[in-house]
Amino acid sequence: MSEQTAAYQECINPDCKAQFDVTQTLVKCPTCGTLLDICYDWDKIEIPAKISDFGKRWATRSNRLDFSGVWRFRDLLNFCPDDSKVSVGEGQTILQQNDNLAKDLGVKPGNLFLQYEGLNPSGSFKDNGMTAAFSHAKMTGAKASACASTGNTSASMALYAHSIGMKCTVFIGSGRIAYGKLSQSMDYGGHTIQIQGDFDDCMKQVQDVCAQLGIYLVNSLNPFRLEGQKTIMFRIIEQLGWNTPDWIVVPGGNLGNSSAFGKAFIELKKLGLINKVPRLAVINAQGANTLSYLYNEKNLRWNGGRIDMSVVDDYYAELTAKNYSPHTLASAIEISRPVNLTKCLRALDFCNGVVLSVTDEEIKDAKAQIGLHGLGCEPASAASIAGLKHLLADGTVSPDEKVACVLTGHQLKDPNVTVNYHKDKEGPFSNPPVEVENDLDKIIELMQT
Ligand code: F0G
Repeated sequence: MSEQTAAYQECINPDCKAQFDVTQTLVKCPTCGTLLDICYDWDKIEIPAKISDFGKRWATRSNRLDFSGVWRFRDLLNFCPDDSKVSVGEGQTILQQNDNLAKDLGVKPGNLFLQYEGLNPSGSFKDNGMTAAFSHAKMTGAKASACASTGNTSASMALYAHSIGMKCTVFIGSGRIAYGKLSQSMDYGGHTIQIQGDFDDCMKQVQDVCAQLGIYLVNSLNPFRLEGQKTIMFRIIEQLGWNTPDWIVVPGGNLGNSSAFGKAFIELKKLGLINKVPRLAVINAQGANTLSYLYNEKNLRWNGGRIDMSVVDDYYAELTAKNYSPHTLASAIEISRPVNLTKCLRALDFCNGVVLSVTDEEIKDAKAQIGLHGLGCEPASAASIAGLKHLLADGTVSPDEKVACVLTGHQLKDPNVTVNYHKDKEGPFSNPPVEVENDLDKIIELMQT
């Protein structure tokens, strides 16, 4: 245990539970290969008596840590000293109550909320995790960082790396990244390596590269990243007047968010800072539905940490035999071997969760509705609303329940999908431009029809 922070790393395998100091850089347990958690000796940390006490920090926003929507909650992710904390002003997000969309979906007014993570400095939720990972990287003296990415992780990594003058390398699959995201990491000085393969191939390569070259890995395998992503839940609770909603709905890709959200609720409940734990719905795209398949068809469960990994291994072997590569227009979640699968199962277990998958058509329509009524989002984020429609239709979610959907990325991340949907009149919410001659009468005539 690090004396300075009362934090330590611990293997999540109940039969191992090996512990490591937070000054070590690890992405998996060196003893058994399972994922690691950041744990805290809570008795040694001064935690506010009530969760609403965190709100007092709004009054001292001239302190950069109180300004940050992540570090405002620093007592709940207390793994590094303040002078190591790297912040670029992340977490200034909005929980938008959206009664118009609620009406469209058949949710009671006042019950539907959209947590718009697109307002982060690099335009996605990733900044919540990256501020934590780079704080750890700085604390441990890392010299270079790397990630595999479907786009947003790379944009966020490049932003944080350049904010502290660190080198970074992005691994992307061929033709799988939206230009809005690629352009960001290029602008921020990220070194981009395009691999002839998909995200899962990149994820495998980057782990080996980082291990061999001693580079700091910032994918969500990194347990420090998930500590930062817990704060998305703290901010939802804050914006609901320090109350928990009935449901959290989130898209699932590599399953870092869902894992972090589960950990947030486990800790808040243990600390007595909340009474009610929300239910969690994780939404896959149908073309990248590993979690939904294993959870619903194969009945894979957390099982007290003793997960039947033979089910997962068999499925992955099938994918390999078929030379399978996932495909969805929601490129951010085009992932078939989610690295946080086990932690996500823990979250689903604790939060009485459900999982389902939605089609690309459903994602596109939901995205257009979010744009029409709200602040917009990128395709992967809209999986949350597309999924909620199913959960309302089959009665899993009642119109009387309070639902917070996490919109994970900014509307401008992937404008191609948006423009194609509207321009090609693809769906019921399409809004195509109309062409007219360069003639005043004709323009006026058109505007009056
Ligand atoms: N939404 C967006 C906009 C994302 O960029 C991602 C993941 C997800 C949802 C899925 O989140 O992995 O926590 O389940 N993007 C990663 C990337 C994989 O490389 O940018 P998750």
